[in-house]
Amino acid sequence: MDEITPKALYLNRRQFLRAAGITSAAALLGACTAPAATSTSSVFTDELTKKETALSFNNFYEFSLSKAGVAPAVGKFQTSPWTLEVSGLVDKPMSLSIEQIKEKFRSREHVYRMRCVEGWSMVLPWQGFALADFLNEVAPKSQAKYVSFQTAALPDQMPGINETASFPWPYTEGLRLDEAMHNLTLLATGLYNEDLSKQNGAPIRLVVPWKYGFKSGKSLVKIELTAEEPDTFWNLYAPNEYGFYANVNPSVDHPRWSQATELRLGDSERRATLLFNGYDEVAPLYEGMDLAANF
Ligand code: MTE
Repeated sequence: MDEITPKALYLNRRQFLRAAGITSAAALLGACTAPAATSTSSVFTDELTKKETALSFNNFYEFSLSKAGVAPAVGKFQTSPWTLEVSGLVDKPMSLSIEQIKEKFRSREHVYRMRCVEGWSMVLPWQGFALADFLNEVAPKSQAKYVSFQTAALPDQMPGINETASFPWPYTEGLRLDEAMHNLTLLATGLYNEDLSKQNGAPIRLVVPWKYGFKSGKSLVKIELTAEEPDTFWNLYAPNEYGFYANVNPSVDHPRWSQATELRLGDSERRATLLFNGYDEVAPLYEGMDLAANF
């Protein structure tokens, strides 16, 4: 088993590096086609992904289009001092330093599956706290229905930004307020019991485990509560491929590949993808909604 795992991971990485070599912008998230399927395993085990994998196989386009290229490119990124601002339809807007956030909100470990829209997944031990605790501090007004997340866009420190000028920087994401208030939704400041690495979204990022990984914005600088559904980076860029909801759903294929299976990094065989990434407790959020139309 020990021999099989690194080899499978290595092969998998090579496939992604090849995919990431495609330079057309349309190729990005989309072109990283799911690694070739061998067979589908229905056995569902949730072993933690190796730390080295999680810290070296990253999607963070502000730094690099290549997964292996992110970690070597983060050197100039200044994550201290750092301020996160919360504004919009709230009674008590606030602007907190990362130190104030860590002091005010007690982090604990949350082990979550993460399923990327590209067809691979990991199991990660985050240190974080419920986004709901954070939002309750700012007292959302009754008109607030959505939450918009903006992440850092610093071309001098993030070499990928200038290389991908056709992207709608900054990277933005959004949730409905009830999704944001769900107790699974986290603000994370750590991973594997250490401060978040720059490549994983230091010093603070979103984690929404039942949605494709692109919803979980890294290196957050601003959270805004709004009445209308906010624009989001991938939906602006390729609206036919990436919707606002992006709930993990094995029956709703990406226009260019199936979402029925995924490769858990470290495994040798693909496994079945689960609706809501297996987090069934979120189903009531979408009662009466057409999941295929709201992808
Ligand atoms: N956040 C920002 N700011 N920029 C990005 O390119 N990529 C997203 C998400 N958050 C991304 C981002 C995608 S596609 C995924 S799968 C996850 O981050 C990857 O997180 P990880 O590298 O920590 O595993």
